[in-house]
Amino acid sequence: MTITYFDNPLLMSEKATELVLEEITKNPSLLLCAATGSSPLPLYEGLALKAQRKRSLFDKIRILLLDEWLGLPSNEGSCNGYAQEKIIAPLEVAKERYFNFNSEADDIAAECKRMQEVLDKEGPIDLCILGLGKNGHLGFNEPADELQPHCHLANLSLKSQEHDMVAKTSAKPVHGLTLGMQDILSAKKIILLVSGEGKEVVAKQLLSGEITNQCPATWLWKHDNVHCLMVSSGDMH
Ligand code: GLP
Repeated sequence: MTITYFDNPLLMSEKATELVLEEITKNPSLLLCAATGSSPLPLYEGLALKAQRKRSLFDKIRILLLDEWLGLPSNEGSCNGYAQEKIIAPLEVAKERYFNFNSEADDIAAECKRMQEVLDKEGPIDLCILGLGKNGHLGFNEPADELQPHCHLANLSLKSQEHDMVAKTSAKPVHGLTLGMQDILSAKKIILLVSGEGKEVVAKQLLSGEITNQCPATWLWKHDNVHCLMVSSGDMH
């Protein structure tokens, strides 16, 4: 894992935007797995700006969403709602090139199976954009004795239930749908964005290099193509 520190989220996202554009230029039809949340937001804004100037860059890109809150209406605080606004509309991604969990799915097993099949058909993921949960989660792969390899229903930790994305929603999700750890680690390239308050402890744990299921992000050390871009906040390193 290569780690680069930045003084602020803007500088971090400039670098992230540059790395993503480099990959898209090399492979215009790449499968990009996208996390939601606040960390990658300036990156998506950077890509949207680029799209205004050179939209053809995104003509073939395929987007797959990393995870989803279960039980949120699709247009109210869901990862899909976020992606529609920040990624799909600005980059004009056609619906045949966009893949996501349905936050309102009734048959969870069937929904996980469907997304796994999408991944089998469209994958492997060429580039995976991740954020770091305050408890070390990736997507909704929460700290646990045993981590799940593939798409699954996750019981959300209290920390996840308090995430900003669901701070103002009327429904309060206690479950999430997410790609599993093996799905994530099978990506050819990963960009982990670390910014935001309350990440000092978990960032230190990640940087220690010790791999533990209690901090799922530490498994990224096993991958040989991870760029970790981190906004340093004093004593992180
Ligand atoms: C959320 C999402 C993740 C996200 C992470 C970090 O709960 N499930 O996909 O990457 O937590 O979010 P943020 O970047 O807002 O800190």
